[in-house]
Amino acid sequence: MEEILNRYRDRSYLIEAIHDILDEKDEKSLTDDEIKKIARHFKINTAEVLGVLTFYTMFSVKWKVKHTIRICNSPACYIKGAKELVTFLKNYLGCDKNNIGGNGSFLVEEVECLGLCDVAPAVMIDDKVFGNLNKEKLKKIIEENK
Ligand code: FES
Repeated sequence: MEEILNRYRDRSYLIEAIHDILDEKDEKSLTDDEIKKIARHFKINTAEVLGVLTFYTMFSVKWKVKHTIRICNSPACYIKGAKELVTFLKNYLGCDKNNIGGNGSFLVEEVECLGLCDVAPAVMIDDKVFGNLNKEKLKKIIEENK
């Protein structure tokens, strides 16, 4: 990781550096220590690194979380109440400004279409998918996946 970071000095290369670091790892994710190290290297705060990671949802961010909840906010899900589900979910888990909640166990990400439009609104928790959701169903799924 050190070697890769030394190739990039300027903050504008943050994304390239993250790509290269993940390319070298079997597990395509970063730990909180690695995120802090990247932030120190580019002299930025960890929230900026986390912001890039969460923006690029193909990266699985391990920020002291056990589970990543990806909730679709594309049109089919939006029309069927995805925005209300997001609000409910963040309140239910008590998410902070980094969208981490459930005592640090869950990261909530709003994402583009999950390819489950026929069962909108849809959610992915880690690698499991769930559809036809409402608040009660979502709450039950969260409790079962803690
Ligand atoms: S719009 Fe939500 S899964 Fe396609």
